[in-house]
Amino acid sequence: MSKLKHTALGALLLLATLGANADEKLRIGLMLPYTGTYAALGTAITNGFKLHVEENGGKLGGRAVEFFTVDDESDPAKATENANKLIKRDRVDVLVGSVHSGVALAMAKVARETNTLMVVPNAGADELTGPLCAPNIFRTSFTNWQSAYAMGHEVAARKRRSVVTLTWKYTAGQQSIDGFKEAFEKDGGKVVKDLNLPFPNVEFQPFLTEIAALKPDAVFVFFSGAGAVKFVKDYAAAGLNKTIPLYATGFLTDGTLEAMGEAGQGLVTTLHYADGILNPKNQSFRLRYAKAFKSQPDVFAVQGYDAAQLIDAGLAAVAGDVSKRAELVKAMESARIESPRGPFVLSKAHNPIQDIYLRKAEGKENKLVSVSIKALADPARGCRM
Ligand code: BEZ
Repeated sequence: MSKLKHTALGALLLLATLGANADEKLRIGLMLPYTGTYAALGTAITNGFKLHVEENGGKLGGRAVEFFTVDDESDPAKATENANKLIKRDRVDVLVGSVHSGVALAMAKVARETNTLMVVPNAGADELTGPLCAPNIFRTSFTNWQSAYAMGHEVAARKRRSVVTLTWKYTAGQQSIDGFKEAFEKDGGKVVKDLNLPFPNVEFQPFLTEIAALKPDAVFVFFSGAGAVKFVKDYAAAGLNKTIPLYATGFLTDGTLEAMGEAGQGLVTTLHYADGILNPKNQSFRLRYAKAFKSQPDVFAVQGYDAAQLIDAGLAAVAGDVSKRAELVKAMESARIESPRGPFVLSKAHNPIQDIYLRKAEGKENKLVSVSIKALADPARGCRM
């Protein structure tokens, strides 16, 4: 082949590739629970993510989006296979997930091995932005430590000296208890007993009997989703809400107050979101979400919405070209996300630095009481990046 023909062919091939990329849809893999105790959380994250894509004319970073969805059932044993399906079979450009810390830890391992860009829209496993932090792993939610740590200070400030903790025995529960204890015991409190049961069991009766016998000043728990509803109702049915105040991170009461009914009223929690945050972004987000999905948004919807915003910010900087990974990551790292929770930036470990709010359940809302800790950054212990 002559040199001229060779060059012309090369130019044609280049144009064809560029054209194909520009037209090709951005492949987003949503690996979330759509069944089981966390089903409502997975749905809210999906809705929030899609709401932002919709607002953007169906695009992220200028590219039309195609979704690939897997129900991960909050089952860590199935997580590696599910993540591989999305990455190898569906060839997703970005892996988004999940809710359950154990599932997300397995996903992150696959994402690291395959160098897939991953955005965590809920799971709080401290390791994801701690010892397992990586340039390709981002989170738009929280660490398990963050809001539990704030609640440790709040309970101590209320002069509760002895606390019994109760949770599901898995990463999120254990790390929430650790975060709570760190602040509570620093302020002079004492955790007198840690109780737990396997995820996602809801046979709470023996634990309620034990709590009644121990008579602590307060109880701190981590539960979420359908299991949280059952726990709060059982706590009230046992009459414990009259004698021993119950405290928790806001995962207990977000998206669950309607189902809890009377039993949920007055519960005080800490979280990086509250229903009545008065910023224009939150107000318009809540209106648009309610219109689109005929339900009220919660923290999970916010985290999904912000995952889409973060990906959009990264992709916009490279005109949708995911092959420009270094530039894309840099843009995500320096993004300021205008979240309904209030604006936030990411820490060096890729976790939101955010205000933690004190909230009180009233009617169907987790009403904002005050800012418990301003701009709280996770300590990111063990992250070398
Ligand atoms: C978690 O497993 O990390 C988690 C699940 C539900 C709510 C909050 C955290």
